[in-house]
Formats: sequence, C-alpha cells, structure tokens
Amino acid sequence: MARLSTLFVTVLAFAQQTCLAYPREHHASKVFVHGRDADEQYDYIIVGGGTAGLTVANRLTEDGKTTVLVVEYGQLSNSASITTVQGGFMGMSDTTLLYDIQSVPQTNLRNRSIAVLAGKVVGGSSAVNAMMTVRATAADYTRWGSFFSAGSHWSWDGLLPYFKRALTFVPPGAAVTKSASITYDTSYWGNTSGVYAGWPSFQYPGTTAQMDAFKGIPGVPFVKDSGSGEPGVYWYPTFMDPSRVERSYARTGHHDKAANRTNYHLVTGSRVLRVVLNGTTATGVSFVPVSSGPSSSNSSSETVVSARKEVIIAAGGIHSPQVLQLSGIGPRKLLSSANITTVVDLPGVGQNFQDHPMIQATFMYRNFTLHPSPEDAFLDRNFSSWVDTVWAANRTGPNSIATGNAAAWLPFPVISPRSVDISSALAAQNHTLSLPPDTDPTVAAGYRAQMLSYAAALNNNGTAFYNLVLTGGNTNGILVDLHPLSRGTVNIDPTNPYTTEPLVDYRALSNPLDAVIMADLIRFTRRYHMDNPLTKAWAATELAPGPETQTDEQFADYLAETLSPSEFHPAGTCAMMPRELGGVVDEELRVYGVRGLRVVDASVFPTLPGGNTCQSVYAVAEKAADLIQYGPPKAVE
Ligand SMILES: Cc1cc2nc3c(=O)[nH]c(=O)nc-3n(C[C@H](O)[C@H](O)[C@H](O)COP(=O)(O)OP(=O)(O)OC[C@H]3O[C@@H](n4cnc5c(N)ncnc54)[C@H](O)[C@@H]3O)c2cc1C
Ligand SMILES: *[C@@H]1O[C@H](CO)[C@@H](O)[C@H](O)[C@H]1NC(C)=O
Ligand SMILES: *[C@@H]1O[C@H](CO)[C@@H](O)[C@H](O)[C@H]1NC(C)=O
Ligand SMILES: *[C@@H]1O[C@H](CO)[C@@H](O)[C@H](O)[C@H]1NC(C)=O
Ligand SMILES: *[C@@H]1O[C@H](CO)[C@@H](O)[C@H](O)[C@H]1NC(C)=O
Ligand SMILES: *[C@@H]1O[C@H](CO)[C@@H](O)[C@H](O)[C@H]1NC(C)=O
Ligand SMILES: *[C@@H]1O[C@H](CO)[C@@H](O)[C@H](O)[C@H]1NC(C)=O
Ligand SMILES: *[C@@H]1O[C@H](CO)[C@@H](O)[C@H](O)[C@H]1NC(C)=O
Ligand SMILES: *[C@@H]1O[C@H](CO)[C@@H](O)[C@H](O)[C@H]1NC(C)=O
Ligand SMILES: *[C@@H]1O[C@H](CO)[C@@H](O)[C@H](O)[C@H]1NC(C)=O
Ligand SMILES: *[C@@H]1O[C@H](CO)[C@@H](O)[C@H](O)[C@H]1NC(C)=O
Ligand SMILES: *[C@@H]1O[C@H](CO)[C@@H](O)[C@H](O)[C@H]1NC(C)=O
Repeated sequence: MARLSTLFVTVLAFAQQTCLAYPREHHASKVFVHGRDADEQYDYIIVGGGTAGLTVANRLTEDGKTTVLVVEYGQLSNSASITTVQGGFMGMSDTTLLYDIQSVPQTNLRNRSIAVLAGKVVGGSSAVNAMMTVRATAADYTRWGSFFSAGSHWSWDGLLPYFKRALTFVPPGAAVTKSASITYDTSYWGNTSGVYAGWPSFQYPGTTAQMDAFKGIPGVPFVKDSGSGEPGVYWYPTFMDPSRVERSYARTGHHDKAANRTNYHLVTGSRVLRVVLNGTTATGVSFVPVSSGPSSSNSSSETVVSARKEVIIAAGGIHSPQVLQLSGIGPRKLLSSANITTVVDLPGVGQNFQDHPMIQATFMYRNFTLHPSPEDAFLDRNFSSWVDTVWAANRTGPNSIATGNAAAWLPFPVISPRSVDISSALAAQNHTLSLPPDTDPTVAAGYRAQMLSYAAALNNNGTAFYNLVLTGGNTNGILVDLHPLSRGTVNIDPTNPYTTEPLVDYRALSNPLDAVIMADLIRFTRRYHMDNPLTKAWAATELAPGPETQTDEQFADYLAETLSPSEFHPAGTCAMMPRELGGVVDEELRVYGVRGLRVVDASVFPTLPGGNTCQSVYAVAEKAADLIQYGPPKAVE
C-alpha cells in the first residue's frame, strides 16, 4: 500500500533489485570513449550529453556542416532500466545510471541528508526520470521574462512554438480515451520531434474517479489539455514512444538522429573540468577520463579541445555551476577561498538553487472498489523476473503505464482560505533574512524580485502551487509544493574544490513561510479525502501526518521530520536574470562577462516552473538552438 504513495521517496530501496543491463555493441563511428580520439577543434563544444545538451547538438548539426563535440560524463547504455516504462521508476532505481551525491545535512530537517538524484548516462536525467510529461502554467513562463522587461521573448507566447517543436504528441487510443474519459487538444502540440509524448493503452478506473472527485470541492478548475498553460485537474502524457512502448528521451530522440552525421561527435566517460579561457573569451574545454578519478586542476590525462564559435554548458542544475566555478566564473569570495583565480566575479553562480519539495501525506482507502487497481497488479511482484518474462512478452494494459497520467495542479486561492494573508506576509518580509548571511546584494535583489512575483501569484488563480499526482489506487499519490520560497546553494567545496561532486545545500524551509504554505497544501489534501462528498464512500484513513496534526506549529514539526526537499528537479543555479539581480546568463543564455559561453539546461530557469521540469528543459533547449543560430527574435512592431 505505502509502496506507491511513497514511490519516489523509497526509490533507493529498489536500487539493488533492478540493476539490469543488456549491453549491445554500438557501431556509430563518431562516438569515442577516449578523449584523444576527438578532433582538435569544433565549431561548438557542448558540456554534458543530457536532456538539453543532446537537443542542442541535434539541432546545431542538422545542417550537416556545423561541427559539434558533446562531452558526456556517463556512457551509452541500453539498459532495460532505462527503456522499461512500467511504474516509471526503474531508471531512478538503477544506481549505475545516477550520480552518487548526498546533500549537506539540512539544518531545518533535523540535520537529515538527502539523496541528490541526477542522470549520469547519455541522455542525462531524461534517461532516468519518471516520464511525467508536464507543462507548467503560462504565468510561470511569462514570469521568467518579467525579470527583464514586459516585452521579453521569454514568455508563454515566446515559448509555445518551442514546446511544439520539442515533442511529437501521439494521442491515446480510441478505446482508452473513451473508457477513461481522457481529454486532450492537439492544437497545443507538435508532431516533428524525435522525442515522443505518448500514452499507455490502459488507465485504472480509479484514476478517472479520483479526478472526478475534485468536483466535490467548489472552485477547482478542470482543463482539457495539459499543454494549455492553465492550472487545474488534467490528463498528461508519458515520455514514451507508443509504437515500441519504451521510454522516449534525449538519447533516442536527439542523439540517435544525429549519430550518423559526420559533423556530430560524442565522447563518453569524460568529465569536463573547466572551460578554457583566453582572457574572458571561452576558447575550449578541458576534460579527463572519469576512470581517472577526482582530478586536480591540471592532470596529465587532461584533453583540451577548442571551440571555433562557442562552448555551451549543459551539465544540469547540479553540475553546470560547478563547471563555471572551477573555470573561475563565480562568486569571488568562494573562488578565492578555493585558490581559484577569479576571471569573472559573478555572484549568482551556484546560488538561487531550487527544487520541488515532496510532502508526505498518506491517505488509505478502506473501501476502494474500483478494479483493477495498481495494487492488484503490481504490489508484490519481483521486478527482475517480471522484466524478463512479462515485460519481454506483453507491453499492454497496466504494463504500459509509467507513473500515471493524471494530477491536480491548483492555484493557491482555490486551496487555501488565507491566500490574501500569506500573499501579504510574503510581500512584507525582509527577504534577505531567508538567504545565507553573506549573500551578495545583487543575488538578494533578485530573490526579492522573485518573492514579490510569488506574492502576487499566491493571490492569483493563474499560477499553480498545489500538485497531487493521482495513482488510481487505494492510496493517494505524490503531494508537491510547486513554488518553494526557500533558496539553496550548489558550491564547490573550498577545502577540496576538485572532488567530483559539489556541496549541495537545499536550505529547505529557510523561508519560514514555506512551512505555512505546505501546511495548507496538506490541509487541502485532507479536505479532498475526508471532507468531500465524492470521496466519502472510499472511507479514507489518514496515515500521515495523522488527524492530530492541526496547528501550523504541529505541521512545521511534521515537515521538519519528513519533508523531502527534492523531486529531482534541480534548477536556478545559473539563473537567467539581469546581472544586477544576481543573474548568470542574459536573455540569450550568454554568461555575463564572458564571450563565447552559454548555459542551456534547467540551471537557467530563474524560478521553477510549476510542473515536472523535463518538458520545459526540452523547450528551453529548442529555443536556445534558435538563439545560437539566428540570434534573438525580431521585436514585433
Ligand atoms: C529521478 C528523476 C526523476 C524525474 N522525474 C521527472 C518526470 O517524471 N518528469 C519530468 O518532467 N521531469 C522529471 N525529472 C526532471 C528532469 O528529468 C530534469 O529536469 C531534466 O532532465 C534535466 O535536464 P538537464 O539538461 O538540465 O540536465 P541532465 O539531463 O541531467 O543533463 C546533464 C548531463 O550533463 C552530464 N554532466 C554533468 N557534469 C558533467 C561534466 N563535468 N562533464 C561532462 N558531462 C557532465 C550528466 O552526466 C548529464 O548527462 C526527473 C529527474 C530525475 C533525476
Ligand atoms: C544539527 O547539526 C548542528 C551542527 O553539527 C548541531 O549544532 C545541531 O544541534 C544539530 N541539530 C540536530 C537537531 O541534531
Ligand atoms: C502535424 O501537425 C500539423 C500542424 O498542426 C498538421 O497539419 C498535420 O496534419 C500533422 N500531421 C500528423 C501526421 O499528425
Ligand atoms: C480564484 O478562484 C476561486 C474559485 O473560482 C474564486 O473563488 C476566487 O475568488 C478566485 N480568486 C482570485 C484572487 O481570483
Ligand atoms: C545510422 O547508421 C546505421 C549503420 O549504418 C544504420 O543502421 C542506421 O539506420 C542509421 N541511423 C539513421 C538514423 O540514419
Ligand atoms: C588570446 O587572445 C589574444 C587576443 O585575441 C590573441 O592574440 C592570443 O593569441 C590568444 N592566445 C591564445 C593562447 O590563444
Ligand atoms: C598542465 O601542466 C603541464 C606540465 O606541468 C603544463 O605544461 C601545462 O601547460 C598545464 N596545463 C594547463 C592547462 O594549465
Ligand atoms: C527476483 O528474480 C530474480 C531473477 O528471476 C532472482 O534472481 C531474485 O532472487 C528474485 N528476487 C527476489 C527478492 O525474489
Ligand atoms: C497482457 O497483459 C494484460 C494486462 O496485464 C493482460 O490482460 C493480457 O491478458 C496479457 N496478454 C497476454 C497475451 O499475455
Ligand atoms: C533586512 O535584514 C538584513 C539582514 O539582517 C538587514 O541588514 C536589513 O537592514 C534588513 N532590512 C530591513 C528593511 O529591515
Ligand atoms: C590555498 O592556498 C593557501 C595558501 O597558500 C593554502 O593554505 C590552502 O591550503 C590552499 N587551499 C586549497 C584548497 O588549495
Ligand atoms: C463502500 O463503497 C460502496 C460502493 O461505492 C458503497 O456502496 C458503500 O456504501 C461503501 N461503504 C462504506 C462503509 O462507505
């Protein structure tokens, strides 16, 4: 029972039982395992062959002429834990595909350390994620540009064409559309990408019932399509190639498209240490074989490759700031303490760190009569033998469902009776008090701008703050805070900067209003289950936090004990913000103060989108490819 509701939280427990690999020879001639086999010079060098990096590489090499080298830490893998969709968590259970990082102990979480999950394989986190294909609200994307100007091309309208370019939407089959009452609208989607948004061939009847039960609460909006930019209760697709019923990701959709082009090269098993700079111009990258272990600033196994045009960092929210800092681009104080010469003093690098907190709220139904349910099908199975037998032979029915396809994404005024008060309290805060004591004034100014934007959003119905992922089973799913106020840091360790991993500090609950908001997210979940005419017959029992938890203080205590500050969506650490607001990249994703250097991945999101991040990363990468090739869009007269 608890297995599905705490699926993400308990994921590491599955790690040992699901390390399956089906190695296959790879014959593409331009994939190197040794840095020495790379050419001396390329037009573009991309650091990180993950979700964004491979998208940009594919687009830049489409002309057959522009030369690109992608340098990737991980390997090409055909592991069944990547391809298998069922359950949505085999990839994230396979430790061979993940970095091994623990956060620093979280002061506000009883000093707990949190596993920091990120994909370490060609395809990056798109190879291991839970395949939820989600687009956030229009307000979330327009917020990004609002930190620059009202007319910024970083807006819902500016991104919609790239959402369409990013994915090929294949509608659900007629039978399941009818039986589950799935709604969708293809006008929000495209059909040219090699990355697919598909649908399983079956839905649990409980899923539709759990969606409908939101009609028992006044004011909850229902939305026809997940791509419309509106908050509400809706169906969303799966990152799945529906013809194969396998994960569709940056490797299949972008690397495999580019792999036969002579102008596309990929080197695997290689860790970029730093960007090579001539003065303040990026001229190339330096990398070492991962097998050589942690490396100093200058090791004999180092390969330097130069870039004729640009270096593009796409190492993800955890590692992009690390690469910049090791290159001498970052907060001067931090770099000096690590004896790294500051090339550009850029205080925002590694700051503004955000992820979606996952809240444990567990309700079990004593009388859930809709079958089959996920528990009927999958509760106690042995995944290893299941993959070899059932999955190998039969990819239909419940077998074709990943994490599920339905959730509620609700604005704060709809779920909380005190949205006006909380909005005012956030606006009136001394925002600097929630940041580390020595935060640079520009970073603090950016944080203040973000908090004022959120204060307005908290009392507005355009932005979703609440997310409940529905399972269709006899227990509720995952409860997520879509817009945490607290900001963390990802910094190199000044005493040992060249260790493989940076210090990751979520600084969970450092803004005291986060616990207040999360208390209301739990209270609303309680209302949905316990005080709702449409869920009454299921006879829910509240297992966590438990009915005795009532006051804000009690909720704060519970959150300190149980909160997970990560849904594996690290972002914000190389923020696209004005430089005077602590930004790291400008509206063309160019690193301030450096020529020939961009960042393209989740680390440029100034604020988290209110939804799982992968689709937004693809859209940003598609837009970045246009910015790199054609410059910014011409202003509309
Ligand atoms: C377990 C898990 C579950 C998730 N579930 C979902 C979901 O269901 N739906 C959703 O929308 N999102 C989900 N996400 C989030 C989503 O997958 C990520 O936001 C997105 O893939 C990040 O893309 P990126 O390009 O920023 O980074 P990544 O895709 O992580 O790419 C970064 C790449 O850079 C490489 N790299 C790092 N450092 C170096 C270096 N120094 N040298 C060379 N290479 C380097 C990495 O190995 C990696 O391949 C999940 C993520 C995880 C980890
Ligand atoms: C957390 O760690 C700090 C520093 O080691 C210590 O001072 C504090 O007492 C610890 N708190 C708890 C709740 O254990
Ligand atoms: C692809 O999308 C275009 C534009 O929306 C549409 O005209 C066309 O029919 C679509 N093709 C397929 C095969 O769905
Ligand atoms: C938000 O929507 C709810 C439900 O429709 C409505 O009662 C409320 O007035 C709206 N609030 C704002 C600030 O628009
Ligand atoms: C790439 O080349 C291989 C081997 O020649 C071939 O089998 C494959 O179909 C090609 N892929 C694409 C996408 O053209
Ligand atoms: C660095 O740039 C300067 C000025 O463009 C140039 O003269 C010099 O040759 C460059 N040095 C290297 C090592 O490329
Ligand atoms: C690394 O060290 C070698 C030998 O000590 C030196 O020749 C080389 O220039 C150094 N490389 C860099 C990038 O500093
Ligand atoms: C699961 O199945 C695999 C392969 O069939 C077997 O090796 C393993 O021991 C089983 N694990 C458990 C916990 O039963
Ligand atoms: C395939 O799986 C579905 C769902 O588990 C099941 O209903 C069906 O009978 C299976 N088909 C075969 C041929 O095994
Ligand atoms: C906010 O807090 C900071 C840090 O303690 C302090 O320096 C500053 O004066 C405060 N600002 C206001 C307006 O109170
Ligand atoms: C930085 O340099 C100082 C003085 O030379 C030295 O004491 C310290 O250990 C160095 N730190 C690192 C991280 O190398
Ligand atoms: C259990 O569910 C059935 C079917 O919805 C309903 O008729 C019955 O009253 C429920 N029992 C309880 C105790 O709520």
